[in-house]
Amino acid sequence: MSRAYAKTILFGEHAVVYGEPGIAIPIKSMHTDIELTDSKNIEYETNWELDSSSKKKLEELFSFLGINDKSIKIKSNIPISSGLGSSASLSVSLIRKVHPLWTKDRVNELAYKCEEIFHGTPSGIDNSVITYEKPVYYENGIIEIIQVKPFKILLIDSGVRSSTKDVVLQVRKSYESNVEKYQKILSQIGYISKKAREELSYGNIKMIGFLMIRNHELLRELGVSCDELDDIVKLSLEAGAYGAKMVGGGKGGYAIALVDETNHKKVEDKLRKFSDNIIGVDVN
Ligand code: MEV
Repeated sequence: MSRAYAKTILFGEHAVVYGEPGIAIPIKSMHTDIELTDSKNIEYETNWELDSSSKKKLEELFSFLGINDKSIKIKSNIPISSGLGSSASLSVSLIRKVHPLWTKDRVNELAYKCEEIFHGTPSGIDNSVITYEKPVYYENGIIEIIQVKPFKILLIDSGVRSSTKDVVLQVRKSYESNVEKYQKILSQIGYISKKAREELSYGNIKMIGFLMIRNHELLRELGVSCDELDDIVKLSLEAGAYGAKMVGGGKGGYAIALVDETNHKKVEDKLRKFSDNIIGVDVN
């Protein structure tokens, strides 16, 4: 069996597509597993239905990777169209199955090309964090593995599904319509990622939380949040979370709330009214 994890972006989504830095971490409780079977067709074992366009993308991916033998089973507990890296995880897991001896660098290079099939113009942060399985600081194609002091987050499902490719395209259109305005927002997000890198290394939870809140506001200005994500952020902060923000492409998918041992229960209880899909993650 080969396995690849999910991911969440902590800081810098969208800005990272424009060369600004971003920070992402692997989520090890969610993964894509590839197994060999006797069947003549690819089998899927997921908690949701794959629509016809996702199936078409998968066919494209298999043919790109030269997978003609379809006796494989894909098992995944990563929700799709949720900003948790389901496509990059699938690509990395398949590449590991087909090329078990490849170095991480080589796996990552090919996984980036697979991401182009799914997302058009990916920054490369998703395939990198999933390949290296460590917190990464990613800027313009340069991947740095970073040390972070342990912290705890909640991953909260907004219940809304959205295509990262479409949202990235929407940002591109906005950017081209007013480069000055949008470049300013993207640069500010980049600055937040730089500061966050420092604060994550010190474990300064209050400051990390503050930066998350500010990052979410800037993502709102960029036009990639939605009411459900804004509600999650608001409720999390009201319940005492240190910070909260949407993650990934946005317009749906997941948000994160920064918590600790003293307040995670309270935040979770408050959010349960909104979402029954909340996952606690200890990052270290
Ligand atoms: C998607 O997980 C993150 C985006 O920044 C797109 C990308 O970096 O390729 C929205």
